[in-house]
Amino acid sequence: MVKMNRRQFLALSAASAGTAIFAGCTKGRANNTQAVSKSSNLPQVHQSQNGLLELDLSASESSVNLGSKQAYLLTYNGQVPAPRLEANPGDRVKIHFTNNLSKPTNLHYHGLHIPITGNADNVFLQIDPGEQLTYEFTIPENHSAGTFWYHPHLHGLVAEQLFGGLAGLFIVRGELDEIPEIKAAQEEFLVLQDFALDNDGRLMGSSHMSLMSGREGDLITVNGKVNPSLNLPANKLLRLRILNASPSRFYRLALEEGTFYQIATDGGALSETVEADELLLTPGQRAEVLVRGRPESGRYRLLNLPYDRGGMGMMGGMMGRGMMGGSDRDNPMALATINYEAAVDSPVPTKLANISALPEPKTVRRFELNHGMSPAVGMAFLINGQPYKSDRLDTKVQLDTVEDWELVNTGVMDHPFHVHGNAFQVISRDGQPEPLAAWRDTVLVKRGETVRIRMPFNDFAGKTVYHCHVLDHEDLGMMGNLAIEA
Ligand code: C2O
Ligand code: CU
Ligand code: CU
Repeated sequence: MVKMNRRQFLALSAASAGTAIFAGCTKGRANNTQAVSKSSNLPQVHQSQNGLLELDLSASESSVNLGSKQAYLLTYNGQVPAPRLEANPGDRVKIHFTNNLSKPTNLHYHGLHIPITGNADNVFLQIDPGEQLTYEFTIPENHSAGTFWYHPHLHGLVAEQLFGGLAGLFIVRGELDEIPEIKAAQEEFLVLQDFALDNDGRLMGSSHMSLMSGREGDLITVNGKVNPSLNLPANKLLRLRILNASPSRFYRLALEEGTFYQIATDGGALSETVEADELLLTPGQRAEVLVRGRPESGRYRLLNLPYDRGGMGMMGGMMGRGMMGGSDRDNPMALATINYEAAVDSPVPTKLANISALPEPKTVRRFELNHGMSPAVGMAFLINGQPYKSDRLDTKVQLDTVEDWELVNTGVMDHPFHVHGNAFQVISRDGQPEPLAAWRDTVLVKRGETVRIRMPFNDFAGKTVYHCHVLDHEDLGMMGNLAIEA
């Protein structure tokens, strides 16, 4: 096992815990619908059966119980977070989607390596209010096991719809789940979200200022609850699978008097377990950690520590977030509480997966992240000096090649950079080689920083996007079109 220092660790980005309630999983579509209405307060789970994951999914405005208050949110099947989907490599997925929202939307399968065209992970589809579409794709046989997720991705509305609550986990089972210590662990899923609600529990609008910095809300929930409790049974490990489903908020996680053993990032297993005191999770990122008990029973609080992601002078620091949000800028806040029973021995695994190094490519591209004025939209967020245009092709790559992308942040705010369809490895940050091999789909590029990533474009040709995963920045232009040509 590797023990990283704090700087290395922060660079690694990851996180921690929640309450998973396993609702009955049913096969047929009719049954699923029934299961949902029976226990509308519990997170639903839909697992594939005999190689098929099939369900009805409808986006609508619904009244939900959020952190013990009634809230009027945007939901999938009436739930926040949305139902958890689980499948295996090789499975067929069929999602009968209905848009009952008042605005158009679509679905993106963040982190899944599946077709980017047709009725699969195609962010250029638009489903208008009242319309239906069946998403259909196969998860490749060699897909890695990991914590993926789904959320809306219609440019211009992404942050607003995510901030309304539309997000759910998409789990792919596989090798990582079969490592004996991990298999024996108690598994919990933590979906981290924040909300800005008025006194009646309705979603508040966001000012232009807060959009520039990236909207944050002062109500932070884990699986739709405020500070839920989790149990860690005697002599067991707790496996926390954590998703940052907030549009802009970063979570800097720590376990009070405890330590994390990180086993996975966005793209699944790390090569080996990493012990760390803190995990930084940017919007879109996932991490899996193991938590051990202690010789005497007690409790850990999972804390969210302050993090400064920069800002444009007053706008970012004070007006953008301070006014929207919260005192959590200055004070650690408990996200969840883990009650553990006395543990004598609960060893964590060391070696997790083989992550082969990618060949050094010939092609190196540079992407400069910044903001500036754009004639059409005023203040815009830019990649290589340009705001997003749907009909402009920004980057053209060859299928079955590998490229290095140099991500250069010349601005004053942090930008988590995300690429659709293929995972990448981080090669270096500011010239410092990345200490550990891992597959990711979202990487933090801090203000002033240069991050080099190496990415294979495998299996699927077509057009997709890369963007900043502070989703207001994406909606305000920090996105590009990527064509993968066969
Ligand atoms: Cu999770 Cu293009 O995003
Ligand atoms: Cu994505
Ligand atoms: Cu950004």
